[in-house]
Amino acid sequence: MKLLDYSPLALLWLGCLPWLLACGGPPRPAPTVRPRETAAPGRPGPAAGAASAGDPHSFARPNEVVVEHVQLNLSVDFTHRRIAGRAGLRLRNLTGADRLYLDTRDLDIQRVTLADGSTDAPFTLGEAVPNLGRPLEIRLPPGAQWVNVDYATRPEAAALQWLTPEQAGSPSPFLFTQSEAILARTWVPCQDSPGVRITYEATVAVPPGLLALMSAENPQAASPDGVYRFAMRQPIPSYLLALAVGDLSFRAFDRRSGVYALPAVVERAARELADTPRMIDAAVRLYGPYKWGRYDLLVLPASYPYGGMENPRLTFVTPTILAGDRSLVSLVAHELAHSWSGNLVTNATWNDFWLNEGFTVYFEWRIMEALNGKEYADMLRVLGRHDLEDAIRERGEDSPDTHLFLNLAGRDPDEATSEIAYQKGALFLTAVEQAVGRERFDRFLRGYFDSFAFHSMDTARFLAYLHANLLDAAPGLAARIGVEQWVFAPGLPAGAPRFQAGAFARVDQALAAFARGTPAGQLATAGWSTQQWLHFLHDLPASLAGASGEPGQRPPELNELADLDGAFRFTSSGNAEILAAWLQLAIQYRYEPAYPALESFLTTVGRRKFLKPLYGELVKTPDGTEMALRIYARARPTYHSVSQAAIDKILDWRG
Ligand code: BES
Ligand code: ZN
Repeated sequence: MKLLDYSPLALLWLGCLPWLLACGGPPRPAPTVRPRETAAPGRPGPAAGAASAGDPHSFARPNEVVVEHVQLNLSVDFTHRRIAGRAGLRLRNLTGADRLYLDTRDLDIQRVTLADGSTDAPFTLGEAVPNLGRPLEIRLPPGAQWVNVDYATRPEAAALQWLTPEQAGSPSPFLFTQSEAILARTWVPCQDSPGVRITYEATVAVPPGLLALMSAENPQAASPDGVYRFAMRQPIPSYLLALAVGDLSFRAFDRRSGVYALPAVVERAARELADTPRMIDAAVRLYGPYKWGRYDLLVLPASYPYGGMENPRLTFVTPTILAGDRSLVSLVAHELAHSWSGNLVTNATWNDFWLNEGFTVYFEWRIMEALNGKEYADMLRVLGRHDLEDAIRERGEDSPDTHLFLNLAGRDPDEATSEIAYQKGALFLTAVEQAVGRERFDRFLRGYFDSFAFHSMDTARFLAYLHANLLDAAPGLAARIGVEQWVFAPGLPAGAPRFQAGAFARVDQALAAFARGTPAGQLATAGWSTQQWLHFLHDLPASLAGASGEPGQRPPELNELADLDGAFRFTSSGNAEILAAWLQLAIQYRYEPAYPALESFLTTVGRRKFLKPLYGELVKTPDGTEMALRIYARARPTYHSVSQAAIDKILDWRG
């Protein structure tokens, strides 16, 4: 069997090597090979494994011994909230090392054996480091190509959320994982660095009647004995390992894609997310073939801590995007876009997170533009710019956390990554697009995804590739864009792209009219989209401040909020984005009629992006803090660890 395919684009890229060498070159050898896309892909070669050296969030040493394939044999025990079984790891020893180092956190390691399954391999678990867990050091005899790790998870495993039937909104219990950024190690002993790629197979036993799904080839109906077999044949980083178990049904959109959800939700989900096939078509037209086979979605229970997670072949999404009018589906475009930016070309370390998220937001805008037109995409761009400016203000114009290239050593990447990577990253790519023209930029991006598919990428290597393949043809272009400033300096360059959305001009007019005293019911808001309402709520305080003619803000009066609520029914909005934005204003300006809705939101929704600003606003006053603590005492056990960690910090919660 031929193992390595030479990609024509990768070979073309090699043509740039003289340039790279002349300017110091990238820190690691260029990937010259890539795996085949069909079954049994070849290996990316030693260079790809070595790419995680220098990852401050992993104990692994993949430049010595790299794990290439993982064989899981697991059983899921809802009674004891435990996943237990064996992880078999196929190794490639690059240096003749006599030790393998794996990442673990809160795992009980019972035994390690060699390929025969009976010869013990001596192991030690190192000291625990906050966030990182403990290194598992395994002694390898010469020539060892396989180890088996027998292990069990703990009930508090940070990746896992075990839901009671009541919490799941289902007659059955529910389990899901969230591995990004560094939580895979809390349920699988592995080289938990995004610079290392594995293929995997799994046999998973769950209580009969429940369906198990992974980031892999998936079943569409429950098996009679509760045993499922999975295969992910394309090499993926560990943060894309995923598992969900519950009473789930499936509805197809077409032959290539569909949605899984609780039976009570699946019809609504299928209607809401029916644009998915058109999104796939648009994405493929933009940046080349979809390389993962099927693309399905899984709608999780409301405690899911993120909006979405790009688990390959099976994006996980929060049910809070089911607004009833398809107005929040750009989130699906985002997770789908990760099938290229992130899952094909992967950030080498979490310091390079913007290479995943900035590219993905840019790509998301392009998909939505292809589907709904420029007007629509421009609304997303303007709202993104709001978020970016808020994030920079929050962290400070000079904060190193506002750089694209980050230094997260010693910190938890889940806490330290922010909207900056997303929105500043996308804005930087837009600046490059505007400088070279869309057509050339699209050709460049397509070549980038193609050349580096199934490889990791760091910031230095991306910049070298950008120079060699796009910018250096025109002298002075990189300097005019301010590439270095975008990536390595805080805040935003002066010439950063600005967007205008025609639909928002109408919102600005309504805001101005309201600030002048026009009653809410008389504002021209007929037919407004969700994005227009979000812009309205975001700009409301500033527009009132502007109208007052005084410096600083004039807070909305309570009767103004009541007037708005009476006319537009924000407090009972079924749109989670609109409700969350409104509830934040309600806390800020003490609009108490919304407090029952606030409490119900905080005790039913676990999405961190909504929770953080709401609790953050509550703790600004003593009685708000009291209310936050009271609600959190009840809500905390229903949140995933990722959201718990964020809110613990805001409330200084010590349980
Ligand atoms: N990959 C991220 C989620 C993530 C990032 C999980 C870092 C853990 C660590 C996902 O693609 C994402 O960005 N989700 C966003 C939605 C998106 C539309 C911006 C979210 O969850 O809000
Ligand atoms: Zn993302």
